[in-house]
Amino acid sequence: MTALPILAAGVFSPQSPQASAIVDLFYIVLVICAGVFVIVTYLVTHSLARFRSRSQQLEPSQVGGHKTLELVWTVGPLVLVIWIFVLTVRGMSRADPVKENRPPDLTVTGHQWWWEIHYKSGAVVANEIHIPVGEKLLVQVDSTDVIHAFWVPQLARKIDMIKGHPNQIWLQADHPGTYLGVCAEYCGTEHAWMRFLVVVDPAAEFNDWEQQQLRSAPASLAVMRGARLFQQMTCVNCHAIKGTGAQMRVGPDLTHVGSRQQIGAGILDNTPANMTKWLKNPQAIKSGVLMPNPGLTDAQAADLAAYFAMLK
Ligand code: CUA
Repeated sequence: MTALPILAAGVFSPQSPQASAIVDLFYIVLVICAGVFVIVTYLVTHSLARFRSRSQQLEPSQVGGHKTLELVWTVGPLVLVIWIFVLTVRGMSRADPVKENRPPDLTVTGHQWWWEIHYKSGAVVANEIHIPVGEKLLVQVDSTDVIHAFWVPQLARKIDMIKGHPNQIWLQADHPGTYLGVCAEYCGTEHAWMRFLVVVDPAAEFNDWEQQQLRSAPASLAVMRGARLFQQMTCVNCHAIKGTGAQMRVGPDLTHVGSRQQIGAGILDNTPANMTKWLKNPQAIKSGVLMPNPGLTDAQAADLAAYFAMLK
C-alpha cells in the first residue's frame, strides 16, 4: 500500500462535513485564482501585441497615470482578498471546534512512533481508532515526546500534537469504512511508519467493539505458554494487559492486540506469522523502533504470537 497517492486522493474525496469544508474552500479559491490568471495573461499578451513598437522610435510615448485603471487594479484585488477571507473564516467555523469546555470523547497521544487512544469510557487502544458513523466526536491530541501531527485526510484537517499543549479537533465520518491516518509532522527515524486506521462502524457495532475493548483479558488464557512467557520476560516492563499483572504503558496496551488489523503502527498486517517475525527482531522490520529485541527463540516468539492472537 503506497501512502502518498492514497493521501492525495484522500484530500479530494472527503468523507465528513469537516473535510468537505476544506476541499470546498480549495475549489472556490482555485476558481478565483484561475480567473485572475486568465485576466492577467490576457492583459499582458493583448498589450504586447496591441502596443508593440511599429516605428524606429526608441523611447515610447510616456503615460503619466490613469485614474480609472488604478482604481480597478486596487479595488478589484482588495474585494477578492476580502471575499477569500470571509470564505476562509466560514470554512474554519465548519471544520474546527471552538475551544470546548467539556471532556473530549477521545484523547489521542503521539509517541515515537505509534498512537495511544483513550476513550471517555475508559477503553485504551493503540493505532486503530473506532468511531460510530455520523457522530461528531471531540478529539484532544497531545504528545509524550516530540511534536507529531494527527491527520486523516478524508475526515479532518491536520493538527499538531504538542506535549503540554493539548489541541482539539472534530472527528466525524459520513459512511462506514476504514480510513488511513498518518503522522504529518517529521518526528524522527520512523515518522513514515507512524500510521493508524480509523474504523467507522454503525452505532451498534461500535458499541459492541467498545464494550469488548473495556473487558480484561480472559483468565482462561493464563495457562497458555505465551501468557506465561509474557509475564516472565521483559514484556511487562513496557506493556499492559488488563486482567494480568502487566500495567506499564510505555508501549502499546496489548489487552486486545489480537483485535487489531496491523502491527507496528501500520508496517505489517496482524497475522500470527508476522507477529512472530516482529517479536523475533522488531528492528529488522522497523529500524529505530524503541522496542528492544527481546532475544526470543523461534518457539518462544511463536508461543507469544499465539497468545496475542487470542487477545481479541
Ligand atoms: Cu510522529 Cu511524524
